[in-house]
Amino acid sequence: MNKERERTVVMSEIMVPQMANFLGNVHGGWLLGFLDRVAYVCGARYCGLTLVTLSVDQVFFKEPIYVGELLTCYACVNYVGKTSMEIGIRVTTENLKTGHIRHTNTCYITMVAIDKEQHPVPIPPLVLHNEDEKRRFNEALERRQMRLKLYKNKDPS
Ligand SMILES: CC(C)(COP(=O)(O)OP(=O)(O)OC[C@H]1O[C@@H](n2cnc3c(N)ncnc32)[C@H](O)[C@@H]1OP(=O)(O)O)[C@@H](O)C(=O)NCCC(=O)NCCS
Repeated sequence: MNKERERTVVMSEIMVPQMANFLGNVHGGWLLGFLDRVAYVCGARYCGLTLVTLSVDQVFFKEPIYVGELLTCYACVNYVGKTSMEIGIRVTTENLKTGHIRHTNTCYITMVAIDKEQHPVPIPPLVLHNEDEKRRFNEALERRQMRLKLYKNKDPS
């Protein structure tokens, strides 16, 4: 039997002045790019396939992230359909002087596995081991249904 692949990743980065916006805090665009890379690492590590980003759910910048803080993303494959998967990312920051940790964002990114012709390909199904994983899977399934509904309701013109 094949060994199950890792479905989580933790990635940290120190916030440096090059990441700042006009106010001197971390730029939202930089954070979005980092979240996308974290989701890619988490998803690709799980399935070993090439992935593209299909959607990034609304990201709320509830609190600023400051230069000098250590940003850490805790990512997990929440849901796997046939060719798509949802990766949830919890973002925290740590003030390295005081040790104070803040939860600044949570976001959900949907990725699709593709082949060389860029057609969707199947992802190994997610085996759910415990109640926590089952809850995350079911919540992700609800979000997926909302996304599909939202997309279908859009006027394509
Ligand atoms: C991702 C891509 C290959 C999917 O192609 P497609 O022809 O739409 O493929 P499908 O209709 O088979 O959908 C693929 C998966 O996405 C899911 N999906 C499609 N639209 C969705 C939506 N609005 N919400 C949630 N899931 C959706 C499908 O349910 C399917 O998942 P499943 O196999 O687990 O059920 C194609 O949309 C693409 O190339 N997009 C551009 C990706 C990209 O460039 N990303 C970077 C952006 S800068």
